[in-house]
Amino acid sequence: MPPHVDLNGLNARLADASPREILACAFENWPNCALSFSGAEDVLLLHHASKLRANVRVFTLDTGRLHPQTYRFIEQVREAYDLKLDMLHPDAERLQRLVSEKGLYSFYRDGHEECCGIRKIEPMRRHLTGFDAWISGIRRDQSPTRREIDVFEIDGSFSGASGRLIKINPLANQSSDEVWNQIRMLEIPYNPLHDQGFASIGCEPCTRPTGPGQHEREGRWWWEEATLKECGLHKK
Ligand code: ADX
Ligand code: SF4
Repeated sequence: MPPHVDLNGLNARLADASPREILACAFENWPNCALSFSGAEDVLLLHHASKLRANVRVFTLDTGRLHPQTYRFIEQVREAYDLKLDMLHPDAERLQRLVSEKGLYSFYRDGHEECCGIRKIEPMRRHLTGFDAWISGIRRDQSPTRREIDVFEIDGSFSGASGRLIKINPLANQSSDEVWNQIRMLEIPYNPLHDQGFASIGCEPCTRPTGPGQHEREGRWWWEEATLKECGLHKK
């Protein structure tokens, strides 16, 4: 049975806590939890987690469409932190059907939901059935759709028949600048795409660099409305 913890109490008690303190609390309350790693600045969480606990269960959604730089970076991190990293892959049959019926770039025409559903949501749903909680790198300042997130919350995307799943967002209250200050100060390795104008990094065909004055999410699914710029991993 997963532990029942007072989430409101934790959110109040850790309102001003650092990402590392939040991670420590997460591991204490939900030992059976998984840490996500997208290959972007959420590497900060992975760094702190590896100092707090041996054998952290880290997973990456290998959509098959990440940038070559991201694959290289994931491998660099795996070696640097001596990780046992779960790479999650889409169901081969569903993917084959999508690509043979609609081609490799159907998302530009039909929207990203179907492709993200197959390449991200379904593999993650399968993986998370084995855990009581997962840890994500989302922040409130990333987009209007993330403004209301709590540090500790019930997951709105993956809780289901198998019970409630807890989602922990240790960076929720951090700004982009704060995250980057910590990455630089601690000399944590980062994805080289960040130095090429990619403020936010997702799949290669759905991510482009942002220019001066643009918000970081403007480089993601740029052909869609701001309110649609979620792939379904982060429902409230
Ligand atoms: S996305 O939903 O729009 O793609 P974003 O790129 O902002 O998400 O990343 C926010 C968080 O979503 C990451 O810190 C991580 O928790 C999760 N996430 C996104 N992409 C991946 C991925 N490929 N593998 C694992 N987690 C991911
Ligand atoms: Fe497909 Fe783009 Fe979603 Fe990646 S971000 S899964 S390529 S629609």
